[in-house]
Amino acid sequence: MSGFSVSWLDLREPADHAARDPELVSTLVSYLQGDTDIAPIIVDLGAGTGSTLRALTAMGAQRCVWRLVDHDPALLNEALRRHGQAEIVEDYQADLRDVAALPLGGAALLSASALFDLISADLVDSLVARARQQSTVVYAALNYDGRTHWTPAHPLDAAVLDAFNRDQHRDKGLGPALGPDASMTMKAALEKAGYTVLMRDSPWQLGPEQQALVSELIRGIRAAVTHGYGLSDAALADWQTFRLSHAGSGHCLVGHIDLLAWPPGV
Ligand SMILES: C[S@@+](CC[C@H](N)C(=O)[O-])C[C@H]1O[C@@H](n2cnc3c(N)ncnc32)[C@H](O)[C@@H]1O
Repeated sequence: MSGFSVSWLDLREPADHAARDPELVSTLVSYLQGDTDIAPIIVDLGAGTGSTLRALTAMGAQRCVWRLVDHDPALLNEALRRHGQAEIVEDYQADLRDVAALPLGGAALLSASALFDLISADLVDSLVARARQQSTVVYAALNYDGRTHWTPAHPLDAAVLDAFNRDQHRDKGLGPALGPDASMTMKAALEKAGYTVLMRDSPWQLGPEQQALVSELIRGIRAAVTHGYGLSDAALADWQTFRLSHAGSGHCLVGHIDLLAWPPGV
């Protein structure tokens, strides 16, 4: 199983939707709606419960065929439950590492959100090669970029962030993870394959209204850096207590990058 629960994905979705760069989405939706005779096929990798579907549909993507790909059947079932009536949704329970088997035939768009920082550089190369073979547009939203900035500050913030960013490279089942290098690695791979790449900042800007998400984020960071990074339990406990005590009053910026890439001739 992936370890991504419906409740965690639901908790982060409002922040994700607020963070997505609207200009890239609007450009993408215009492209998808450009030919009124053909229902564009969108293949969403690591689709979870359908966050990309919701984001693009809310911005005007209509009459699309959504192929949602994930290895977690519970998340796919939830996506179908939410969207199977109103949208054309095809669910594919598959492992992204088997790139040749991904259902990309006829796809106008290969999309993903909050995914590419989890995968390896080799997997990016394989996915880009398959997308290029059939001139598929690529949209990868919400790739973590290594920035996490807290207000108010705590003396351990820099050390915790350094450890967290190193932990982001840990293999989560999709090879040595790109973590904060995801967007630049994708840009290089896509440009080498002839794509024109647009990138925009899409940070989470979290305040007191997102206290529940901020609290989960703090607990997740603490768990990620507990072992192997030389931070003492006492120091981390102090950091966590301080951070949680400000989760309802402080602010947090988590940097992400959205990427939209056009193959030659599209
Ligand atoms: C951070 S979640 C993002 C979900 C969704 N795109 C969103 O923005 O809410 C990453 C997704 O990748 C899926 N995933 C992780 N490893 C996978 C694999 N090896 N094959 C297919 N899907 C995988 C997880 O099940 C999860 O749904």
